[in-house]
Amino acid sequence: MNDYYDVRLKEERLNEILAQSSKSSFTFVRGSIADKELIKKIFSEYKPDLVINLAAQAGVRYSITNPDAYIESNIIGFYNILEACRHSYDNGEKGVEHLVYASSSSVYGANEKIPYSTDDKVDNPISLYAATKKSNELLAHAYSKLYNIPSTGLRFFTVYGPAGRPDMAYFGFTDKLVAGKTIEIFNYGNCKRDFTYIDDIVEGIYRVMRHAPERVIGRDGLPVPPYAIYNIGNSHPENLLDFVTILQEELIRAGVLPSDYDFEQHKKLVPMQPGDVPITYADTSALEEDFGFSPSTSLREGLRQFAEWYRGYQRPHF
Ligand SMILES: NC(=O)c1ccc[n+]([C@@H]2O[C@H](COP(=O)([O-])OP(=O)(O)OC[C@H]3O[C@@H](n4cnc5c(N)ncnc54)[C@H](O)[C@@H]3O)[C@@H](O)[C@H]2O)c1
Repeated sequence: MNDYYDVRLKEERLNEILAQSSKSSFTFVRGSIADKELIKKIFSEYKPDLVINLAAQAGVRYSITNPDAYIESNIIGFYNILEACRHSYDNGEKGVEHLVYASSSSVYGANEKIPYSTDDKVDNPISLYAATKKSNELLAHAYSKLYNIPSTGLRFFTVYGPAGRPDMAYFGFTDKLVAGKTIEIFNYGNCKRDFTYIDDIVEGIYRVMRHAPERVIGRDGLPVPPYAIYNIGNSHPENLLDFVTILQEELIRAGVLPSDYDFEQHKKLVPMQPGDVPITYADTSALEEDFGFSPSTSLREGLRQFAEWYRGYQRPHF
């Protein structure tokens, strides 16, 4: 519940979850994963079979101005989760059966080979954010090997949808257009993104979490790390200008913007930003083979859901 963006939006989401859950099925603990004692306490109290960590400092550009937040949440915080998983087996306890965590397509850096495959070498991150996500995968590998913790990292590709993150382009563009401001389209629009609708991410996590990588003992008598990484992306990169056109059409359709809105007056083509990459494109064949699933929601359908949600959203003043 940190204030990286409007906390009211996080509170609204939380209230929705609380309204849909019974007291026994959902407990909210306000705190930071960088607080080791708190994480230890939660693990010893709840003894989770399944750990899904999505908490992180997200965003590529913010890591240029606020690097500390990334080290605190993504490195120290993630390390605390791994340590808690490790100690969940103390005293012969059954402990954690599967740790699932969010990685990111940003680990592919300026990879020129497309589509991006989990077999590609990803040792060249071009932002601190990407470096922390790649570090999570490395730390998880070491802990899987040392302590036999089944872990799966999911590399998400540009996730969007209702109640999404206001710092992401589709949301920020919408805020600006509604406020009559000008949107900046990076790399003069020559960017392609594999946009992934939130429900597809949820479905992917749901399927993956129930199938932990198997624990196997190797010939040396030591665990073969029960470790896996998957891409979750739409496998259908969209050109940024086409994306903006669909967003405009859907904002008009939902009544967020008037049908005579002069978009040309509110658009500016600008150069590439540091840390950005020209294309992201997920190869999801492994996800399909192992879980019979790959994201399929079209950009128009997803942006329609976003636009309809946005119509009822109380935008903060800025
Ligand atoms: N949205 C995307 O396009 C995208 C793409 C790739 C990966 N991811 C990853 O998916 C996960 C979820 O991202 P999101 O887009 O929903 O972002 P988000 O910022 O909405 O969600 C992350 C949440 O983690 C919380 N958090 C941050 N530091 C914390 C800490 N130290 N302790 C406890 N909570 C903390 C934040 O308050 C926030 O609510 C993140 O790990 C992110 O890196 C997102």
